[in-house]
Amino acid sequence: MKIAIGNDHAAVDMKNEISEYLKEKGYEVINYGTDTNESCHYPIYGEKVGVAVTSGEADLGILICGTGVGISLAANKVEGVRAVVCSEPYTARLSRQHNNTNILAFGARVIGIEMAKMIVDEWLGAEFMGGKHATRVEMMMDIEKRKIHG
Ligand code: RB5
Repeated sequence: MKIAIGNDHAAVDMKNEISEYLKEKGYEVINYGTDTNESCHYPIYGEKVGVAVTSGEADLGILICGTGVGISLAANKVEGVRAVVCSEPYTARLSRQHNNTNILAFGARVIGIEMAKMIVDEWLGAEFMGGKHATRVEMMMDIEKRKIHG
């Protein structure tokens, strides 16, 4: 399975550690993030990983910035992305089972590396349950298709 990973300057070390962790587990990791601590703009990386996942270049994506918020919001602007920010494993698992998330995000300034690994394990280990959840996900994606404006 191919995982696209992306990050801004706040998360270079955590990106590297999570990438190694995933490779040790047999995943192929494609790096779309920055590799320097020089201040940069998280939307660039959110978009890159969003496109990698929705184009099929990667199966799933992982995004890391300071909080996980900006980079996941940016990814969610790419059609077909369902990115979730998690600070604990329960939400990570349920976001796959019920919401069929295709990108996981977290904050390098919010959680430690062991919590990040646990979140990644729960997320990757969970499967979408379909059924009534599929109906809800379809409804959600239909909002995107209808391009609603206020
Ligand atoms: C960068 O300082 C920080 O704003 C960014 O990493 C992220 O936390 C934004 O949501």
